[in-house]
Amino acid sequence: MPDYPALAARLRALTDGEHDEIALMATLACEIHHSDARFDWTGFYRVTEPGVLRIGPYQGGHGCLVIPFSRGVCGAAARSGQVQLVPDVDAFPGHIACASSTRSELVLPVHDGAGRLLGVLDIDSDQPDAFTDDDARALEAILAEVFAQSRGTASAGGGATDAASGVA
Ligand code: SME
Repeated sequence: MPDYPALAARLRALTDGEHDEIALMATLACEIHHSDARFDWTGFYRVTEPGVLRIGPYQGGHGCLVIPFSRGVCGAAARSGQVQLVPDVDAFPGHIACASSTRSELVLPVHDGAGRLLGVLDIDSDQPDAFTDDDARALEAILAEVFAQSRGTASAGGGATDAASGVA
């Protein structure tokens, strides 16, 4: 189990003042992934159009690019808004095997401060039954704290404003 209070404190310091959701996701994917040897794939899928998740920042091997809300563990988390703790992926109907080595998964919905669904955090392990409710609760708290400060992506918001105002 990672030292979650230390991880949360490190993420608080690293993301202080950052509002861009991709920058926040990239930083979390890196820090969470390297905090525990159980985590073989750690990354985000983002809601890019209604009912569709698209790959975001991640650490680990290649991840599938697009996942509809109707499919897989990630889709179930996005559809229901509920954490999905899957001890045995082979027993999960519709599981998407991006890597055949994956045995268990933890997928958490990610919301911004206004409660808008930004996407999901997907953590996969090569070990069966790798995750506990304590992992889910600690990661849920970290996601809520970090993404409360999210204000979308710079390319969709701040970047366009800068371009319009002539600021390089
Ligand atoms: N296994 C996931 C798909 C994503 S990858 O494993 C990176 C799922 O069923 O949602």
